[in-house]
Amino acid sequence: MRSYVVTGSAARQKTDCAIVGLHEGASLEGAAAQLDAACGGRLARLLQRGDFRGRAGETAVLDADRGPAQRIVLVGLGRQAGYDRKRYKKALAAGFGAAARTAARDAVSYLSLDAVAGTDAYYRARLAAEAVGHALYRVPVIRSKREKPASPLRSFGVAVARDQKALAQKGLAHGVGIAAGTALTRDLANLPANVCTPGYLAAQAREMAKAHRSVRAQVLDERDLKRLKMGAFLSVTAGTDEPARLIVLRHDGGRKGDAPIVLVGKGVTFDSGGISLKQPPGMDEMKFDMTGAASVFGAIKAAAEIGLERNLVAIVPACENMPGGRATKPGDIVTSMSGQTIEVINTDAEGRLILCDAITYARRFKPALVVDVATLTGACVVALGAHLSAVMSNDDDLAAELEEAGRRAEDRCWHMPMAEEYHDMLKSNFADFMNACSREGGAITAACFLAKFADGLRWAHLDIAGTAYLGGAQKGSTGRPVPLLVDFLLHQA
Ligand code: BES
Ligand code: MN
Ligand code: ZN
Repeated sequence: MRSYVVTGSAARQKTDCAIVGLHEGASLEGAAAQLDAACGGRLARLLQRGDFRGRAGETAVLDADRGPAQRIVLVGLGRQAGYDRKRYKKALAAGFGAAARTAARDAVSYLSLDAVAGTDAYYRARLAAEAVGHALYRVPVIRSKREKPASPLRSFGVAVARDQKALAQKGLAHGVGIAAGTALTRDLANLPANVCTPGYLAAQAREMAKAHRSVRAQVLDERDLKRLKMGAFLSVTAGTDEPARLIVLRHDGGRKGDAPIVLVGKGVTFDSGGISLKQPPGMDEMKFDMTGAASVFGAIKAAAEIGLERNLVAIVPACENMPGGRATKPGDIVTSMSGQTIEVINTDAEGRLILCDAITYARRFKPALVVDVATLTGACVVALGAHLSAVMSNDDDLAAELEEAGRRAEDRCWHMPMAEEYHDMLKSNFADFMNACSREGGAITAACFLAKFADGLRWAHLDIAGTAYLGGAQKGSTGRPVPLLVDFLLHQA
């Protein structure tokens, strides 16, 4: 995909497809007016007839053969008041979505020319590149016939004011990197669990190391995990025949020896619940339980493509959670790599068991900070639904920085509290603490569990159970929280 910045008049910009916006109740201005004049007033006639109102999400595709653009995609932007990055992002999705369904091989978006509250040309260009990535994304379908054809779109331009060109170019480069990372995340998460196994994730990490000079991969197997005394991690993989892996992926973008940012991603390639077996409805969606892992891989890919000047380490504990003759049983007590003992009350609270050993392992990198990413609790979905991820941290400033990154990237998260009272809920009569307790405040008690392994580290936890994927007819990975993570990393660099 080729991308470029456009600064001149729309009347002189040749393209297969021009994308222009119109606010509800507004008249044709700027690029829209220029294109209208160039194609003999077709846009004006459409409005006069009342065929296009400018409502948010509304689109029309016009043949504009006589002008500089072969076609025009007109996008409704809704009312001018309150037009912000969320609505801009929706307009981009509608515009590039419509363009990608045509036969156009090139498209130029003029949506980024106009003011969007709270954005600059950098973010307008970046969000455009991300939207193109989403418009062109195809799920890795495994059908015997009738593949959905790929869009012929091969290049796109983003229009900005002349003095914003450098800013927009940077935004485009970052957006293209984020789009590549997001697509990788979505591919890995969308694959079925009989394809995307821990071994498959490890192979993908090695592929990434081959493809990018800054990236190195290291894969530990179960013998290594035993040697490291990762008793919590190993207790989760005990019931399955599929071998577990600990995958370490590094991006060396900073100075040698500089403390890295460590990203830890939950890589449960299928979560049946184990002996505490889940109910059948929706269990197929537990193939998405490795989205934390996929998103830290995506963040590393984006960092490599962008050339992020910061050292990063991604740590992915990858395994299946299955019942079986050797599976961990409720009431079993396991010893984590940190030495702390855990009474496994519920084998379905497995994410925290693999993450706690991965967080302990992170200490060997002497990290500047650690962020773990996990589809950790159903309680998080109850608390925040599908719109915002949860962030919990032992450092309020770090949580605030992640919230800010989420706002800037339009991939938001919300800071939830951790207090002593929640820690007390994990007290055990038989071990140092339990892995699960009552349902109330479940997203927070899960974070409190992880916090017991992050003592002395600058650490935050993102619970993405509600945001990582959509269910129902839209079922599939969203690619979140890659934009949030990369925005955060860009601000740390
Ligand atoms: N992977 C699930 C969390 C989850 C639930 C993600 C729904 C996405 C959608 C996790 O391993 C889990 O099962 N958590 C339990 C914890 C409980 C047993 C303390 C849960 O949330 O029910
Ligand atoms: Mn579970
Ligand atoms: Zn899980």
